[in-house]
Amino acid sequence: MKVIVVKNYEEASQKACEIMLDIVKSNPQANLGLATGSTPVRMYELMREDHKKNGTSYKDIKTFNLDEYFGLDQSHPQSYHYFMCHNLFNELDINMENVHVPKGQGNIDEECESYNKLLQENPIDIQLLGIGSNGHIGFNEPGTPFDSVTHKVDLKQSTIEDNARLFFDGKIEDVPTQAVSMGIANIMAAKKVLLIACGEGKAKAVYGMAEAPKTIDLPASALQDHPDCILIADEAAASLLK
Ligand code: F6R
Repeated sequence: MKVIVVKNYEEASQKACEIMLDIVKSNPQANLGLATGSTPVRMYELMREDHKKNGTSYKDIKTFNLDEYFGLDQSHPQSYHYFMCHNLFNELDINMENVHVPKGQGNIDEECESYNKLLQENPIDIQLLGIGSNGHIGFNEPGTPFDSVTHKVDLKQSTIEDNARLFFDGKIEDVPTQAVSMGIANIMAAKKVLLIACGEGKAKAVYGMAEAPKTIDLPASALQDHPDCILIADEAAASLLK
């Protein structure tokens, strides 16, 4: 694992954007694995700015998101599909037919199966990741087997409670209880993995991911075996690394 320590969130976002743009420019038909959450927001903004200013094209780029809540329509403001449109896709020249976010409606088992098939047919060139303070990647919480593929996740009560604040009036009954997530094996199959971690709340997870023994109790530690994984951490998130 290559570890890049930068000063702060802004520098992490700039460095990550540079790496993403290198891939997009060197292979205009690249398959990008994307993430939601607060971490990539600034990087996505920088990608939008670059597109506007320099015309980097996404016309033939395909994207594959890590995860989606189950039970939300694509147009629901808390769906990850909506998040991606508003933070990235709406301002790029991407063909929306090339955008893939697991579907949050219909038959969840069938959706998992078809997403796995899609990933097999479209090997990911770079997978972007954030990390949870407990070391989760995607919706793969501690205990998820390393050989997992896209699967249905029953969200933990603590996650449902944490996420309630993001829903309209914070009503817990509005938060979905299930999600679809790429598994750890899907993430490991990406040719390159880029994980961004910022803030002291991520320091323990970053240490577990990069330097502690590999364990399913810290899902991101699987990345120790990835042949091309880059971790970009700000000083706070990297504070426990040797
Ligand atoms: C997002 C995702 C999650 C987040 C993680 C960190 O698609 O799968 O694993 O990357 O929860 O979230 P933030 O960036 O909000 O700290």
